[in-house]
Amino acid sequence: MSMNVSKSMTLAAVLMFVCNAVLSAEDSEQSPFAVPPVDAPRPTEHVMGWVDSRDVVSLNGSWKFLVDPMQVGTPGSLFGGWATTRTPEDEYQLLEYSYANAADIRVPGDFNTQFDELLYYRDTVWYQRRFDIDQSKAGRYHLWFGGANYETTIYLNGQAVAHQSGGYVPFSVDVTDHLLFEGNDLIVQINNRLDADTVPTERTDWWPYGGLTRDVMLIHTPEAYIVNASVQLDDDLSTISGHVKTHGMGAGHEVEISLQEINVRATVKTDDAGVARFKFDAPVNLWSPSNPKLYEVRITSDADQISDRLGFRTIAVNGKQILLNGEPIRFKGISTHEEPIGRDGVAYSRADVDALFGEAKELGVNFIRAAHYPYSRHAAKAADEMGLLLWEEVPIYWNINWENPETLRIARDQIARLVQRDWNRASVVVWSVANETTYSEPRMAFLNRLIQDVRKLDDTRLVSAALLGDTRRELQHVVTYLAANGLGSDIPSENEKLIFQQIIKAAGENAPKQNSYFNLLITDPLGELVDLVSYNEYFGWYYSRFIADQTGVSEHTIRLLMLDLMPRVILASAFDKPMFISEFGAGAKAGKRGDGVWTEDYQADVYRAQFKMISNSPQVQGMTPWILKDFRAMLRSLGGVQDFRNRKGLIDENGRRKQAFYVLRDFYAGDWGHY
Ligand code: GCU
Repeated sequence: MSMNVSKSMTLAAVLMFVCNAVLSAEDSEQSPFAVPPVDAPRPTEHVMGWVDSRDVVSLNGSWKFLVDPMQVGTPGSLFGGWATTRTPEDEYQLLEYSYANAADIRVPGDFNTQFDELLYYRDTVWYQRRFDIDQSKAGRYHLWFGGANYETTIYLNGQAVAHQSGGYVPFSVDVTDHLLFEGNDLIVQINNRLDADTVPTERTDWWPYGGLTRDVMLIHTPEAYIVNASVQLDDDLSTISGHVKTHGMGAGHEVEISLQEINVRATVKTDDAGVARFKFDAPVNLWSPSNPKLYEVRITSDADQISDRLGFRTIAVNGKQILLNGEPIRFKGISTHEEPIGRDGVAYSRADVDALFGEAKELGVNFIRAAHYPYSRHAAKAADEMGLLLWEEVPIYWNINWENPETLRIARDQIARLVQRDWNRASVVVWSVANETTYSEPRMAFLNRLIQDVRKLDDTRLVSAALLGDTRRELQHVVTYLAANGLGSDIPSENEKLIFQQIIKAAGENAPKQNSYFNLLITDPLGELVDLVSYNEYFGWYYSRFIADQTGVSEHTIRLLMLDLMPRVILASAFDKPMFISEFGAGAKAGKRGDGVWTEDYQADVYRAQFKMISNSPQVQGMTPWILKDFRAMLRSLGGVQDFRNRKGLIDENGRRKQAFYVLRDFYAGDWGHY
């Protein structure tokens, strides 16, 4: 190996250098090709809030972009070191990466849909750009990321300044001590690989959009500044209370909170922890979907000032009712994923959200379930202004590793950051801690921890989780009702009726009578810990397939009998709490008409049968059918129909409405209890 040695280095020193390099590789028992773990601090624990009112420089725009499937660029690995922007000093310097020659990529936005060859890519990429700072501004500088998927390391001027595991939620780091006045070299390493220990795991029914998927900013604050503040309307509907968290102030600093429009202000002082608590009278006009009234709230302290437009309302449950501002309300909703209409990839801008939620409003909804992970901060702000109630959730989805402490840490970090970002959003009324997780003691302990965290941070909103129910037991019951009804119907063949007779005989005295009602009861112990008992059910879509396989009766017969049975299914839970149908649906390829699955007609028939079932179920106080828009999903491969998109949308990826869109719109415009 010939080396380009500076003149001052003697041959002996060269030999010593080479031997040490070889020895250290052997000593560390690491292959020279190993990828060393990243050594960087976690981001600042407390979420910096109210960012849109702060002194910021946007770092959105065109960045340089490198793909690194073998994580070769990780500092400390052979050929590594991509954490600094370097160009060869001369034609003899060997560098195997270059940002100067790299592709350009737009930030924010996922990388999967900006390069055709990266659509399915789920590994490491590198982003790079430079920025200057305004040298006249003393104080602190914070790099702020609205979210990045999935594991992110921030390098500034060659230093690893932060490492964040978990996507979707904001994080920031004070980089004041690492800054140059100009030419700051900002490099971000992101690994989008998910596995059995991540949150979510690698198995999701949505696309794992990776990269710098949210806004990036440089935030300037005074030396002592306001970190965040929670401002809530009290249950009396006439006083506002909360707290302001500061940094670098200590005790005795005055903090003023004001609502100019109603000439209300309060001045309080920080305690030893730099926290100022307040409670004051405020005769506000209550926020609601029909009256999305927002007030300019300003908070000042020392040299810092933040502001935001906030709505004031209360949300509570009372027995089996949901109360908004003390009045019963039903959540007439729709589920969404964070994808724009008419453009591939992740929705990242206010315009994306306005269009998506605008289409939801065309349905006549007052509620949106923002599944299955925290959306950008633009979502709840748009909902505040549009008069939409919002369910926000963290991706504790399906098969989480309940017994891994790091998995729990990431999950707790996700929900804590989400709550601290959106706890002032009037639209947000539900925090959800899980989706379709099966019962186990470790699952209960894990979710109980999350629920306690949420309630400690914000006890003014409802807590929920989308439950699965005991599908196997339910289906065993459903089969006997289908058999009883089938025997009195001309839908089944004679042979199928023989099978139904066997099923009824086996049920003995428990066999239901024809046209009797089937009571489905949710008993998941998680129902004890939440305020809203939410349940995902797919009557009319999935169950028929399982029942056909189990009984030998054709799926065609089962589907038709199921649609006939659904109006006689009553959904309830074992808890004296409101029940909520967080998912139901059916797939349809836009434009496909006629009989059978994947047609718009069948999807609409399932919706009509669902409405009859839900309006027969008095404990159900709301629903968010699955889903507003067809969305990318690696589980959905059926060529010519799905093509790696989940087709349960009421509109397709380009916004083309299906029949069921109008069926749901009519239902919401009508009388819920009498469909
Ligand atoms: C599940 C799950 C969704 C999924 C949906 C479906 O209930 O919560 O993420 O997309 O069903 O099967 O389409």
